[in-house]
Amino acid sequence: MSERAADLELDAGMGPREDVRRALAYHERTKHHLDRYARSPAFLGWDYQPDPFRTFEGAPAVALPLLADGLTTPFADLFRPGAVAPRPLELGTVALLFELSLGLSAWKQYRGDRWALRCNPSSGNLHPTEGYAVLPVLPGLGAGVYHYVSRDHRLERRCALEGPAAERLAGRLPSGTFLVGLSSIHWREAWKYGERAYRYCQHDAGHALAAIRYAAAALGWSAVLLDAPSDADLAALLGLDRPEDFAGAAPADREHPDAALLVGPPPLRPESLPLPLADWPLGGTWAGRANPLSPSHDPWAAIDEAAEATRKPATPPLEAAPQPPSPPLSLPAPASRLPASTLFRRRRSALAFDGRTAIEAEAFLAMLDRLLPRPDVPPWDALTWPPKVHAGLFVHRVRGLVPGFYLFERDASVHDRLRAEVREDLAWERPPGCPDHLRLFRLARQDLRDASRIISCHQTVASHGAFSLGMIADFGDTIRSGGAWWYRRLFWEAGMLGQVLYLEAEAAGVRGTGIGCYFDDAFHDLLGLSGDRFQDLYHFTVGAPVDDPRLTTLPPYGHLDPVPGPA
Ligand SMILES: Cc1cc2nc3c(=O)[nH]c(=O)nc-3n(C[C@H](O)[C@H](O)[C@H](O)COP(=O)(O)O)c2cc1C
Repeated sequence: MSERAADLELDAGMGPREDVRRALAYHERTKHHLDRYARSPAFLGWDYQPDPFRTFEGAPAVALPLLADGLTTPFADLFRPGAVAPRPLELGTVALLFELSLGLSAWKQYRGDRWALRCNPSSGNLHPTEGYAVLPVLPGLGAGVYHYVSRDHRLERRCALEGPAAERLAGRLPSGTFLVGLSSIHWREAWKYGERAYRYCQHDAGHALAAIRYAAAALGWSAVLLDAPSDADLAALLGLDRPEDFAGAAPADREHPDAALLVGPPPLRPESLPLPLADWPLGGTWAGRANPLSPSHDPWAAIDEAAEATRKPATPPLEAAPQPPSPPLSLPAPASRLPASTLFRRRRSALAFDGRTAIEAEAFLAMLDRLLPRPDVPPWDALTWPPKVHAGLFVHRVRGLVPGFYLFERDASVHDRLRAEVREDLAWERPPGCPDHLRLFRLARQDLRDASRIISCHQTVASHGAFSLGMIADFGDTIRSGGAWWYRRLFWEAGMLGQVLYLEAEAAGVRGTGIGCYFDDAFHDLLGLSGDRFQDLYHFTVGAPVDDPRLTTLPPYGHLDPVPGPA
């Protein structure tokens, strides 16, 4: 359907408009309020906690080599287009892409409990996101659709493409490229968080998107989100619509298609694919039965309804987002000649901050700078739309900046509309020393430690760090004019902001934590926002961490037998 036809349907009050209404209603009903949290289970059903690892029994498995220790690309080089020579597409580089994006980064142990952490973070460490690869024939690997199992660092060959089917695939992928697919199992998050969990699944998908784009950059590759395909096209490609393969798992254990990325040597655009995914049926032979994740489930109808309302139809590809004039990278890259592969695996959420350590304004501004899109720079070049998520910052301890409330616009075009929506008594002062291209404004000089803690569900991580922030999305108009599925995309963008901040914090020698629990309207009230033009979609905090000495850290893959790498 053309964009024009979609508009007409919206105007006529048919399906898409009802979907928009349902998406906005889901958002409203899943707000946390100071006096009432969104609906969640009264207690955690530990005996039916979902398995964090999906497997497909009967699908041939390919053990991948662990090669990240040998990848020395400095993190700082990822932001200099052309600095990393593209690696060839082969089993080892596919293994690296997954190891550095969705792979395990450590195990934590406390008394008798052990749990895995991954390069991509997840609300409550529940990991709803599953990863797939659609690969042409490579030495040691047949063509097909593969599911990635992070626990075992292995690919399961869900669909084998042989002969003409393999040739068809080869004809549809630009040379040296492949597809990465993402899906979500909402139940994994809903088990703990109830109705609000659908938001967290989208955040996590955004983190995963960014993690894949960063890992691609470490291999000298690009990665771009294919924005045109429908969810149904994606489900067909990844085999998520094959009821027979999910028959042993309850409906709640199924996977919902999220996104596909084209990955390979730059430059890449969605149009680099010669044929849209909808016209891709590849044939091939499917194998594998999805494992059940929980013996029983709580129903969360609000999530099912939100998922239904925000499913994506096929759409025309978006026009390439006009790249803003690339501002000079006048700020020092964060203290990072460290290998990107070290940084990705070192990324962790801080459990607590020390409430003392300040960071330098230079480091703070460098982090904000990395939130701006630039051509061929990860992760923002993976998206085809200009920034729609901005930040309201609680600055607590940044040397050289007065503590207070700040606003960071990632795109100048939002300024007038945003300014028209917020309180009139805000100062909108430019902090002294802030480079021109960083649209940072001081709205108020204020000690916001208590306010930020309270707004973040009383969590001291929001007040004990150097700064925390709420992500302000250009919300109602985007969803009304674009379609209900933009609800998901806005959360993805917010999740990507989170991933940038996690890595930048590590690079600067401090640490970040995503904050999904916050009182939505309490933050809006601080800015004087009413209505749904702008909505707060995610919080984040950065500071000097205090570790919990009771936890033991174990290596990510000590439990696996070594797999030889390429000769
Ligand atoms: C979307 C999202 C929301 C989160 N919300 C919170 C939060 O409200 N409070 C908190 O302490 N940690 C929060 N976290 C951090 C997770 O608990 C953490 O990512 C997870 O336990 C895995 O640990 P890791 O990040 O060290 O890999 C959040 C993370 C994500 C991705």
